[in-house]
Amino acid sequence: MDLEVLLLVMLTIFTHTRGERYELLVSDEEIFISCQDPDPGTLDVNGLLDFSELLTSLDADGITISGNVTLKWDIQQTDRVQVTANVMHLDRGTWMPTVLNIIVNDFCKVMYDKNQYWFQYWTQYVINDVQDKCVNVPGTQLVYETFILSLTASPTGTFPQGRYKAHVMLRAYDSSGTERPTRICFEVQGDVKKVRPTKSGGAKKSLPLA
Ligand SMILES: *[C@@H]1O[C@H](CO)[C@@H](O)[C@H](O)[C@H]1NC(C)=O
Repeated sequence: MDLEVLLLVMLTIFTHTRGERYELLVSDEEIFISCQDPDPGTLDVNGLLDFSELLTSLDADGITISGNVTLKWDIQQTDRVQVTANVMHLDRGTWMPTVLNIIVNDFCKVMYDKNQYWFQYWTQYVINDVQDKCVNVPGTQLVYETFILSLTASPTGTFPQGRYKAHVMLRAYDSSGTERPTRICFEVQGDVKKVRPTKSGGAKKSLPLA
């Protein structure tokens, strides 16, 4: 559930502001899709997190999230975790790369960094003291305060509407730089739709942008 915000976040990072609003509609049947033709040792999002105690409900303000998730990835606390995310746009039936790409070489250093976009939309709502565990210690629970995830944003600038996907990969390296035998790969798809500006105080909350 958590990482669905990544796609929206990435769309906002790389655009300049000029006053249009976009909405990201993520299909609710299956938010996380397994990567196609994965290399041996590749796990999907269920190899990273156990979502069974995460509670979500959809209403006019966005998605209300509460409960907790449990870390599952079998790596070591001292490992360096690299996260890469690439956003692609579906253009006449073909997935085309976009300029929206993120590489975070040492995710654990910035997972709870207030200046990061995912802090604003995700990790600031973790209320128990597990920051030193990062995503590295299986069995660790991340307990959330109840929060509303609104998937409306106001990036301005030209923006093709339509279907996007974010291809997300997590890799872990031990202290000698050797990659662990498993990596995590998943995709999130959503439709980006331009919406007419609403009065402030309307049903949709706009995410603050840098
Ligand atoms: C985790 O979430 C479940 C379901 O909401 C809840 O019953 C349980 O008490 C939670 N655990 C913690 C440690 O908050």
